[in-house]
Amino acid sequence: MKKIAPIVEVKNLYKSFGSNHVLKDFSMEVSPGENIVVLGKSGSGKSVLIKCIINLIQADSGILKILNQSIQDMGEDEVDQLRSEIGFLFQSNALYDSMTVRQNLEFPLRRHWSVEQRKQGAERAVLEALSDVGLAHTIDMMPAELSGGMKKRVALARSLILKPKVILYDEPTTGLDPITSREISELMVKVQKKYNATSIIISHDMNCIRITSNRVIMLIDGKNYAEDTFENLQKSTDPKIREFFD
Ligand SMILES: Nc1ncnc2c1ncn2[C@@H]1O[C@H](COP(=O)(O)OP(=O)(O)OP(=O)(O)O)[C@@H](O)[C@H]1O
Ligand SMILES: [Mg+2]
Repeated sequence: MKKIAPIVEVKNLYKSFGSNHVLKDFSMEVSPGENIVVLGKSGSGKSVLIKCIINLIQADSGILKILNQSIQDMGEDEVDQLRSEIGFLFQSNALYDSMTVRQNLEFPLRRHWSVEQRKQGAERAVLEALSDVGLAHTIDMMPAELSGGMKKRVALARSLILKPKVILYDEPTTGLDPITSREISELMVKVQKKYNATSIIISHDMNCIRITSNRVIMLIDGKNYAEDTFENLQKSTDPKIREFFD
């Protein structure tokens, strides 16, 4: 059977900050439509990995391919174009506090759509993305008027506005109560289906991982230490893996 080309490919990735060797020969492949979770301890390099994937941090060595393109070899314009196909939900949400929800969502459109396209379609795109996360009524509110869970949803809506093929989530449920975390996790599955997207999810929220993942990659000692379904990893007797499940 012919192997389907991966949507994201990371091979032998190394990244150090001075003497802090964070990623040491990390590799992974993500197939179209998969929801992959990368699980690792705090400080293990999960955010560094996800930032290397979109070249917000430059890797020291290794191969990084996303949507079959090699992001390290690209010029600024090409990277910009590629980033329009990738949704990124930051650990911190990164909403602009001085802008309304609508303006926050329009922000990626300003960069990637022409004035004419925006005139024709911005309103509809903003409303569609907000409706996807159940928050159409917040369109004219300021981020300060929203709860933590609502901010996360708005940030998710903003990462969906360009209908990305790949969505990267950095700790999408951190700081949220268990019920809101579950709602966000279920929402992630829903949007992944709707947009037929491929997702890489950084998380150590076991409920979020159980709900969202097709496969889990354990980032331990800078490497892809193990990968399997959540259920199989849960049964592992390896002490380094057990730590996460006990
Ligand atoms: N820009 C940077 N400059 C120097 N060191 C950095 C930088 N970014 C990350 N690091 C270091 O890389 C290591 C991994 O950080 P990273 O943020 O990827 O951890 P993480 O796995 O995402 O942790 P958490 O679960 O707490 O978010 C840490 O030791 C951190 O200090
Ligand atoms: Mg992090």
